[in-house]
Amino acid sequence: MPYKRELARYKGIVEEKMFAIVDGCGAPKELKSPMRYSLEAGGKRLRPAMTLYVCEMLGGDIRRALPFACALEMIHTYSLIHDDLPCMDNDDYRRGMPSNHRVFGEANAVLAGDGLLSLAFDTMLAAIAKNPCQGEIKAAQAVSEGAGVRGMVAGQAIDLSCERSGAWDMDALRFIHTNKTGAMIRASLLAGGCIADADEDQMKALDDFGYAYGDLFQMTDDILDIEGSFESMGKTLGKDAKEGKLTYISLTGLEEAKKIADRTAERALKALEAFGERAWLLRELTNATVSRKS
Ligand code: IPE
Ligand code: IPE
Ligand code: MG
Ligand code: MG
Ligand code: MG
Repeated sequence: MPYKRELARYKGIVEEKMFAIVDGCGAPKELKSPMRYSLEAGGKRLRPAMTLYVCEMLGGDIRRALPFACALEMIHTYSLIHDDLPCMDNDDYRRGMPSNHRVFGEANAVLAGDGLLSLAFDTMLAAIAKNPCQGEIKAAQAVSEGAGVRGMVAGQAIDLSCERSGAWDMDALRFIHTNKTGAMIRASLLAGGCIADADEDQMKALDDFGYAYGDLFQMTDDILDIEGSFESMGKTLGKDAKEGKLTYISLTGLEEAKKIADRTAERALKALEAFGERAWLLRELTNATVSRKS
């Protein structure tokens, strides 16, 4: 399938650069080992692939987008390391391997996450210092916003507070999806748009697609928590219900959640119309996400 081939190409570009950055980052081996462990454990590299694809789709230079793509994957990986900690989701497996804290201990897992987060900002600032353009600065702002207190970290905070309080409603659920997952996906798209100097309408379409696709991605993650297999997902499933997570499934039931996922995919596809044929990869990815197994 051409979209899989294209994603694999972006994955290769990102991994080569990202591993080189980590190798040369100057961290002592006690810190570098747990950082590398989670980065090298695998992962689909969906977010950085989106950055590179959007940049290329809009006629930008992907060499300029690459540091931001790497930063996004480092931040995403840090978020997974922390998400798995006993004080958060308490998960034993990630990317098909024992989770970071199970191999290196909790303190080192916290530090590996801290290391990846700060290295991501280092990487973006080095790109800005090398090429101090509006595109670079705006891309860094988009990543910072998606990762932080108005983005992923906010979503994680409310995910945990809803789990603990049991105060469930649709507004809280939408907030969680929009922020814990949608914000980093939106940032990945916007970063590519910034480097390619996208216009306002294009940025708005990327924004709309990002939130819709992010919502769809988290919905299907929650559905796969019930229907998926450990072999494909690489993590322990069946945890959301056990831990009392607020999801579309816990709020509306599995069948309704699947219908909402279909409608959300339609919303994502609609946002892509602004780009016509050029957005073929995002279109195929959206269609594949509805029935994804991994
Ligand atoms: C997992 O993200 C966390 C969620 C937002 C559901 P991915 O499914 O993209 O994880 P990797 O990067 O491929 O391991
Ligand atoms: C986590 O959502 C999203 C992050 C920001 C890490 P989940 O907690 O559902 O992700 P998994 O199922 O552990 O990958
Ligand atoms: Mg979680
Ligand atoms: Mg989790
Ligand atoms: Mg999950």
